[in-house]
Amino acid sequence: MISFQRATLAQELTAALQGKSLLGDAHNGLFLAAPRRTGKSTFLQGDLLPALEAAGVVVVYVDLWADVRRDPGSLIAEAIAHALEPQLGLVARAAKKARLNTVKVGGMEVDTSKIGKVDGLTLTDALRLLHQTASKPVALIVDEAQHALTSESGEAAMTALKSARDQLNRPGEVNLMLVMSGSDRDKLLRLVNTASAPFYGSQIQRMPTLGSDFIAYVASLIEAQRPELKPVDQAVLQQAFEVFGYRPQFFMGALGQVLSPLSALTGRFEPALLEAARQRQLNDEAQMASDYLGLKPTEQAVLWRMLEQGARYRPYDAEALRFYREKTSHPVSVAQTQKALENMRQRMPALIWKSARGEYSLEDAAMHRWFEALVDAGKWPPSPLQGMLALEDE
Ligand SMILES: Nc1ncnc2c1ncn2[C@@H]1O[C@H](COP(=O)(O)OP(=O)(O)O)[C@@H](O)[C@H]1O
Ligand SMILES: [Mg+2]
Repeated sequence: MISFQRATLAQELTAALQGKSLLGDAHNGLFLAAPRRTGKSTFLQGDLLPALEAAGVVVVYVDLWADVRRDPGSLIAEAIAHALEPQLGLVARAAKKARLNTVKVGGMEVDTSKIGKVDGLTLTDALRLLHQTASKPVALIVDEAQHALTSESGEAAMTALKSARDQLNRPGEVNLMLVMSGSDRDKLLRLVNTASAPFYGSQIQRMPTLGSDFIAYVASLIEAQRPELKPVDQAVLQQAFEVFGYRPQFFMGALGQVLSPLSALTGRFEPALLEAARQRQLNDEAQMASDYLGLKPTEQAVLWRMLEQGARYRPYDAEALRFYREKTSHPVSVAQTQKALENMRQRMPALIWKSARGEYSLEDAAMHRWFEALVDAGKWPPSPLQGMLALEDE
């Protein structure tokens, strides 16, 4: 497995977070969105985290998807507590020696029995303590941050982080950097776009996908290992990567297959790679079609409305109920709508996402693109034939 380092992007973001770039307000929080599997977590952990550490920052990383059954609020608290442990170990040992129950750290009273746990401290206190004991600025990276909005305690944690930022930072002095990433721009937007949102006013940036430098790197690896394939057609590689939706894992997997001595491939490998990409795209689409077709009529109508309305979706307004009725040819009540939404949320994998405030959206933003493409092609709703493709391949 190869890993392509994205040092330049990591440097740029580090400078922006420190408030060193002229433009932008990353020092108030950096919000990065990009589709699933395009390399966000890999970048955050493998490139950004070490770049920040090299710049003298203590970094706390937490992935809210690491265990979706766990409460997002406590996951964040735990990650901070974990980072505090090595710092407080010293303080705690000193306190024990002196038989003290509380110690003063940076002007704060800390109960030594609670050291290592955040329960006794607020998130703000814990972050301040981390900052003061380490004598360094702190960066908190929350991966798949939109997941915090699915519970009240997660929402409260986000509000607490914003308040911690406001308390710890001063003009020209950034002590707490916040990085929030997400697989869905619309959901991440809910952290910033209403007056009651925790980070009201911040901007969501699109995290760049791996680019032509990644393709050039892969091409150079192929040429080094298989000199007879020189020169590798980078334009076709790039095209295949795009068709794979910029998802390196699928791209590299298919590349491994077409380059394998067992592939029985006669001509060049590049067109075969592109063909594999197209096949994958067809499969993805067929999977979505079969998911859709497997739903009950009411669920289909509700999903259709969500696909059509996007961020404007309101589940129970008169127009929505009229829409469901028209599509199912029978009246659909609010309770039935609710049940349909709940069913689509409970299924594995879930089709629907629900925030703590009862807002609904699609779990996978790729479905919107699929829907729009079918509508443009005059092929919506999907026919059972499209759904079959996915099953054949299983
Ligand atoms: N820089 C990279 N170089 C090579 N492979 C990568 C890179 N970034 C991601 N990948 C591959 O893509 C997969 C998905 O990446 P990940 O970071 O988990 O995506 P995301 O967090 O956006 O869902 C990884 O398991 C890895 O195989
Ligand atoms: Mg990830």
